[in-house]
Amino acid sequence: MVTASDTRTQSPVAFTAGRVLRTAKVASLQTYVPPRVLTNADLEKMVDTSDEWILQRTGIRERHLVEPGVATSDLAKEAALKALEQAGITAMDIDVIIVATTTADTIFPSTACLLQDKIGAKRAWGFDLGAACSGFTYALTTAAQFVATGAHNHVLVVGADVMSSIIDYTDRTTCVLFGDGAGAAVVSAVTENDLPGAGILDFAHEIDGSGGPALCMPAGGSKLPASHETVDKRQHFVHQDGAIVFRFAVRKTEEICRRLLAKNNLKPSDLDLFVSHQANRRIIGSAAEKLQLDMSRVVINIEKYGNTTAATIPLALSDALADGRLKRGNLVMLTSVGAGFTVGAVLLRWAF
Ligand code: ACO
Repeated sequence: MVTASDTRTQSPVAFTAGRVLRTAKVASLQTYVPPRVLTNADLEKMVDTSDEWILQRTGIRERHLVEPGVATSDLAKEAALKALEQAGITAMDIDVIIVATTTADTIFPSTACLLQDKIGAKRAWGFDLGAACSGFTYALTTAAQFVATGAHNHVLVVGADVMSSIIDYTDRTTCVLFGDGAGAAVVSAVTENDLPGAGILDFAHEIDGSGGPALCMPAGGSKLPASHETVDKRQHFVHQDGAIVFRFAVRKTEEICRRLLAKNNLKPSDLDLFVSHQANRRIIGSAAEKLQLDMSRVVINIEKYGNTTAATIPLALSDALADGRLKRGNLVMLTSVGAGFTVGAVLLRWAF
């Protein structure tokens, strides 16, 4: 007879094949945005909106957009090559590539495969991860498990989106919100040279599919394949009920953050830096207020990039590193809410 204690001891041993669990860390972090800038003034010429409305309701001043023909894998490649260099490894050292994206170059092959070829990561396997704006937190958590078990040494995590490819630039309720960009991180095991306690400490994630209709691209999948009718009805673009998403995002950002902190016997004031997905300055502000966080510890850079979906968190981390707010040894909380709904939080002690 198999007892509960048998299953507890047998399955992990079989899975890790005798390996000792290790702590994973973010070993490098780099980003890329395309050079072309679309300002609020530009949007005023395209739809019935104003710089004042966009700034007041969202906090966005400008966003970067690709030129026609530039795809998610192109942005991912730029960020990934810099991340490899910063980590001091080559593409041949990468074991796994995880590309978090909502705007894959094509439905298949996966963007991870395209990226693998573009950077020459000949030893790697990999896959795309679909969690919309929670893509980066989900990918980081997934990568950390591969490294922790000892199954792999270096995982390339990419959050990249060309949102302009699925935005209706005649719809003022969505076109002002989004931008294009990419972030890449190498996730590796901590070594004896690392700060004691550094690394990816814990995570919490949720999905709630009942929220699906509030934020989606209705056509182009197996349910509603592309047809003249779907194109005529503009169903290959982002559709959003902004108010529902807004309320859910504020509630869940606070909830998931508190849950993860409590699990680790921590409180919000213990955090050195709070880096949330950047969808709307007011969402981040409200969640931070509920958590009673000092705003000097809250990263907001949405004014420069808009909502770049899977790329916002690496872009925010990168800006915080550049302006000196993120330092080695800092206790950092990443949080995300995205289409699905997807919800994520990752707690880490910054390693470099
Ligand atoms: N310019 C001018 N007026 C506008 C614009 C615009 N760009 N967009 C909407 N309005 C109008 C509306 O039509 C409405 O007018 P009405 O009262 O005459 O009907 C008015 O402004 C207010 O509209 P609301 O939708 O109530 O505006 P709100 O303050 O809620 O802001 C927004 C809208 C910015 C979309 C907000 O709801 C939001 O940020 N929601 C969440 C977005 C988000 O988090 N997305 C999640 C991640 S994305 C992902 O996972 C892929």
